[in-house]
Amino acid sequence: MSDAPASQEQALRQEILDKVKQYYQLKHAKRPFEPGKTYIGYAGRVFDETEMMALADSGLDFWLTAGRFSALFESSFAKWYGRRSCYLVNSGSSANLLALSALGAKTLGARRLQAGDEVITTSTSFPTTVNPIFQNGAVPVFIDTEVGTYNMDVSRLEEAVSDKTRAVMVAHTLGYPFNLDAVTAFCKKHNLWLIEDCCDAVGATWNGQKVGTFGDMATVSFYPAHHMTMGEGGAVLASSPLLGRALESYRDWGRDCWCAPGKDNTCGKRFNWQLGDLPHGYDHKYIYSNIGYNLKLTDMQAAVGVAQLAKLDSFIKARQDNYFHLLKSLSDYEPYLILPQQHPKAVPSPFGFALTVRDDAPFSRKQIVDFLESRKIATRMVFCGNIVRQPAYKGTHYRQIGELSGSDKIMRDTFWIGVYPGITAQVRDYIVEQFAAFLREKPGWKKN
Ligand SMILES: Cc1ncc(COP(=O)(O)O)c(C=O)c1O
Repeated sequence: MSDAPASQEQALRQEILDKVKQYYQLKHAKRPFEPGKTYIGYAGRVFDETEMMALADSGLDFWLTAGRFSALFESSFAKWYGRRSCYLVNSGSSANLLALSALGAKTLGARRLQAGDEVITTSTSFPTTVNPIFQNGAVPVFIDTEVGTYNMDVSRLEEAVSDKTRAVMVAHTLGYPFNLDAVTAFCKKHNLWLIEDCCDAVGATWNGQKVGTFGDMATVSFYPAHHMTMGEGGAVLASSPLLGRALESYRDWGRDCWCAPGKDNTCGKRFNWQLGDLPHGYDHKYIYSNIGYNLKLTDMQAAVGVAQLAKLDSFIKARQDNYFHLLKSLSDYEPYLILPQQHPKAVPSPFGFALTVRDDAPFSRKQIVDFLESRKIATRMVFCGNIVRQPAYKGTHYRQIGELSGSDKIMRDTFWIGVYPGITAQVRDYIVEQFAAFLREKPGWKKN
C-alpha cells in the first residue's frame, strides 16, 4: 500500500486518464472513408477514449486477474441479458468448453453428461461449438444445416435422438436465431440440456425474447469481430444456481471453494469442511469437486468490456440497420443469390450478411468473392462449411443424420460480408454499388 494521500493518488490517476483521452484523439480518431481505397472489414473493434481510459484505469489498479471490473461486468451483463448469473472466461471457445464440461458435474445426478453420451448439434458450425463434445469424450450427432437460415434443420431432430442423448448444443449462427419453439419443445420432451451458443447473436430475439434465455446455458464471445469486444473474452450465462456453481467450479480449477481471487473464507468455515475422504478441516480452497480448468480472464479485459457494454444496444441497432438495408438493396439480385431468411418469430442481431450463389447463377462464388475483395470489401465463409469434411474430424467418432447436403451447398457456394457498426451509411452505399457493378453485367439480369 502506498503512503501517498488518497487525494494525490486520485488526482494523478485523473491526469493519466486525461492524457489517455488526448492520446486516443491524436492516434485513433476516425479517418474518412475513401471509396475503393479504405478496406471494409467483415468486422472490427468500435471504440473511443472510454475503452482506452477504462483499460488504463485497470492497469493502474494492477490487480491483473479477475477483480472489480470483472465483478461489475458479470453482474451488469447478467442483468442486461435477463439471466440469473454470468461467468466471464477468456474466449467464446472457452465459454463453450466450460458450458459443456459443466454438464459433467456430479451434482447434476442422472442427467449429467458422461463419456459416450451423445450431444445433438449441426454440421455447419464454428469448430469450437462442436469441439467440447469431443473433448469431453461425448459423441456429436450432426443434423444438416439449411441454406438461407444457416441453422439446424429442426425437422430432423426426432431422427437424431437415441437413449444416449443428453444435450443439444447449437449456435444461432451469424446471429440468425434457430427455431426455438421446435428445439425447446424437443429438449423438454426428451429431458435434454440445451446450450445456446450466442457468440454471433447477442441481442437477437425469438418471439420478442432474447436468444440465450431459452436454454439452460448461453455462451458469448468478446473477440473483436463480435457484437462487443474485450480483445479476447467470453462468458457463460446460467439459468440456475446449480449450473452456476458447476460453471464456477469448472472455470476455477475444479475447486469446491467459490472465493473471488484475493478473497478467503467467504463460506465462513474454510477449515471446517468434511468432504469425501479428505481429512476434516482440509482447506476448502484446495478441495476439488470437479476435474476443471482455469479459464478466467484478466481485469484489463473486463474493464474494456464494461465500457463496451454501455454501447451494446447501439451496436446491435447499427448491425440490424445495416442488415435490413442490405436485404432491401440486394433483393433485385435474388435470381442469382439466396438472401438471408428468418423465421417470422426471429429478429437477427446479425454477425454478418450471408449470400449463397444459386446453382444456375452465371458466375461462381469464387468470381463474386474475388470481385468484392478486389473492391476492398472483405468476405468470409460460414466457418467450417460441412464440418465432417474438415481434416481435423476425419476418423473421429460421430453420427450424422442423412446426407448433410445443405452444409455441402453452404461450403461450396455461401459467403458473407460485414454489417458491423464501423460500416456507415456511406460505406453501405458503396457496397451496394459494387454488387450492382458485378451483377448487372451478368447475362439475363433485368430489373424487377
Ligand atoms: C458461433 C461461434 N461460437 C464460438 C466462437 C468462438 O469464439 P472465440 O473466438 O471468442 O473463441 C465463434 C467465433 O467467432 C463463433 O462464431
